Amino acid sequence: MTPLAERNASRSAPVSVETDQSCRSLLATLAGQGKLLTVDQEIDPVYDLSALLSLTHETFAVRANRIKGYDLPVFGNMLSDLDRIAMAMNVPRENIQSALIDSIRQPIAPVVIDKAPVQEKVFESDVLLRLPVPTFFDKETGPYISAGLMVARDPETGLGNASYARLKVLGPNEALIGIAPNHHLAIMARKAAESGKPLPFAVVLGAHPIIQLAACLYLGLGDDEMHCAGALFKEPVRMARCLTSDILVPAEAEIVLEGHIHADKPIVEGLVSEYHGMYEDYGSGVLATFHTMTSRSDAMFQVIQPGYHAEHIYLGAVPIAASLKAQLARVILNVGEVAVTASGCGRNNVVVQINNPRPGQARRAMAVCWGAVSIIKNVTIVDSDVDPWDIAAVELAKSTRMRADRDILIVNGLPADRSEPQEDGFVVAKTGYDATRKAGDRKEGYDKAQPPAASYDRMRDLLAEIAPGVSF
Ligand SMILES: Cc1cc2nc3c(=O)[nH]c(=O)nc-3n(C[C@H](O)[C@H](O)[C@H](O)COP(=O)(O)O)c2cc1C
Repeated sequence: MTPLAERNASRSAPVSVETDQSCRSLLATLAGQGKLLTVDQEIDPVYDLSALLSLTHETFAVRANRIKGYDLPVFGNMLSDLDRIAMAMNVPRENIQSALIDSIRQPIAPVVIDKAPVQEKVFESDVLLRLPVPTFFDKETGPYISAGLMVARDPETGLGNASYARLKVLGPNEALIGIAPNHHLAIMARKAAESGKPLPFAVVLGAHPIIQLAACLYLGLGDDEMHCAGALFKEPVRMARCLTSDILVPAEAEIVLEGHIHADKPIVEGLVSEYHGMYEDYGSGVLATFHTMTSRSDAMFQVIQPGYHAEHIYLGAVPIAASLKAQLARVILNVGEVAVTASGCGRNNVVVQINNPRPGQARRAMAVCWGAVSIIKNVTIVDSDVDPWDIAAVELAKSTRMRADRDILIVNGLPADRSEPQEDGFVVAKTGYDATRKAGDRKEGYDKAQPPAASYDRMRDLLAEIAPGVSF
């Protein structure tokens, strides 16, 4: 083990296995609940697999056993709503956010084990040709690995990083990797290129959902998402050392590609889909090369249906919301739940709950959100009786608690992510909606018109008798 690797992991092998750290237990649970669709008919990876996942993205996780031209089965649509995310994290839905925040505050370092399921098989040539990589959308220019969780180390500090990025397959061992220039992986790859070297990295497919969610947290450069995953498991992530580098990968994942990022070798990408459901033209990505692939003996290939599809939306939205709440809580002690909504593409719109907001706090929260994450555009502030994930409830608050001339803020020229649908020169106008109740606004107050509680109780009892099993 190199000194750099020791900073990121304590070695202890073998480790007694307590929690399943694979994605298989969630798939089994979904199957038990009738939420996993198993498809045994042959599916073409060119467009048809994408159409299948698109049609089912809000209803079923999918396991497609026969992909035309390939041996590996495919699974997708695993984490397409908050209930599944809660199930995967083994917490009640209302505790998803607090568990993620706790994981940022009290991370647990991984351990390295010797015998890893993900290294049962080893391939050393034509590695990308072995994978049933889908061609998703009609204007994209090739097949994309969409569920690649990238693991790398900072070449200066040795500190680890995990994140998602797309890979467009270009040849048996070459791909284009598309990383936003401000993302930590891109920073690390540029640092390596400046010293004349490619950056060693690994692409992990089919890790446990906790590891996938942790990889999407917005942390500081040098804060390793894998340590947050450990906190979410309440035990260290069991990692294996790559066969060709000192990169550590989750030992119970399905497939790992080992390779290098060449930040000094740009390649024009063409149109690519984004979370907002349209295409973007980012110009160039950079070259990634691969020399080794390891896998489980019965590996499955993971696909995350890209574009405006549920898993892509929620996998990004839930960790961004938790990261924002962690930032907000530093200055707004009475902040409640924070939501990054599906209707805001899981990236652009945030709703912040504040408990009894004091004058000025709503605008302060807007400023924190705009300052913390450039992809956030529209910020709505609601009272603590409004569920920020329930867009109908948020709209109701906006239409009943807000005066447009007083409570809407528009700020021009704020920094925008390059993925922002309306960015112009990497800036965009952003809006803040203060949809909280203000003292003196309504002489009638805000009481809800409803029957007394005792009548509700009596009628609930009656309904339980005449319509058992139905919740009202
Ligand atoms: C399914 C999925 C796919 C993603 N694909 C990309 C991508 O292709 N390029 C990119 O720059 N970011 C992509 N992201 C976003 C980054 O993974 C995310 O912003 C991450 O937090 C960045 O890591 P960092 O904070 O370590 O820089 C994707 C996110 C998800 C959930």
